[in-house]
Amino acid sequence: MTSNSAASSSLGGRTAADRSEPLTKQESWTHASEGYQQRIGACTVHGTARLVEIINELSPFTEDSYVLDNGAGTGSILIKVKEKSPATKILATDISPGMLERVDALKLPNVSTQVEDASTLAGLPDDTFTHVLTSFMIQFTPDPHVAVKAMHRVLAPNQVVGIAIWGTAIDHQIIHEKACARLNPDYVAPRPETVKSWRSEPDHRDAMAKAGFKDVGTEAVRMPFYCRDADHFLEYWFDSKNPVPKMFHDDWTAHGGDLAALRAECGKIVQEEYDGGKDIFMGATLGWGRK
Ligand SMILES: C[S@@+](CC[C@H](N)C(=O)[O-])C[C@H]1O[C@@H](n2cnc3c(N)ncnc32)[C@H](O)[C@@H]1O
Repeated sequence: MTSNSAASSSLGGRTAADRSEPLTKQESWTHASEGYQQRIGACTVHGTARLVEIINELSPFTEDSYVLDNGAGTGSILIKVKEKSPATKILATDISPGMLERVDALKLPNVSTQVEDASTLAGLPDDTFTHVLTSFMIQFTPDPHVAVKAMHRVLAPNQVVGIAIWGTAIDHQIIHEKACARLNPDYVAPRPETVKSWRSEPDHRDAMAKAGFKDVGTEAVRMPFYCRDADHFLEYWFDSKNPVPKMFHDDWTAHGGDLAALRAECGKIVQEEYDGGKDIFMGATLGWGRK
């Protein structure tokens, strides 16, 4: 991702961790669950499809597998696992009951749901799953290293883990930062992830190895976030209930920024530099390994 890590640690007297805190709150994600799949889920599925492909090559999903989809959201990973192996048993966990209701509504056989905080996975026993998977969630937890360690704990020995995280270039954030810089060059936009997070492939490999995983590999993926036109992007970025854009906009207005001006500036950037919305991508860093 772009710049600003040093400066963003002391904006307006608050730390980056303070700013990220709402993104771990279950009620904000439950609020966002309606409409999540159509916009963000439709984008993250490009990363989760590739992750599931890689994991299936390492350790094929079968009727004897027991898969954890940790921070499942509306089911981006588990839907792809089911396409590979309809009989596979899956537990979908999330901090948000509203997200899990969307998974339940899919009525997929052998899929159960359970509210769990990824920082502890306290309700899950040690050495249980044949595959422990997660996508685009751990960076919102207070310390993602702790979340990765919890995944290591619940994975059965010699079985496989797959961890997708937000990658180094997220066009939404780049567009936002550029628009803010045009309107107020002194403003430093916050980062959505917590301060102990990482995004790059080397950092992802290090973090997974540090948690105890072996044979760790990574891959960077660009996930298309297709928009019909600039307004389609602006509708998502400014009008959706997703807590990530909301955090960016709340911070901008809290520092005296004009939201209408920001919206107009973002629209211009999308029009001029992103083919009117057709060329917007979110980066993903995929990681895998074995216990
Ligand atoms: C960006 S969404 C990703 C959802 C899905 N895995 C995907 O790839 O589309 C982040 C998800 O993480 C969940 N989440 C946030 N903090 C969490 C925590 N501490 N423990 C478990 N889930 C959490 C949210 O409720 C939300 O469903």
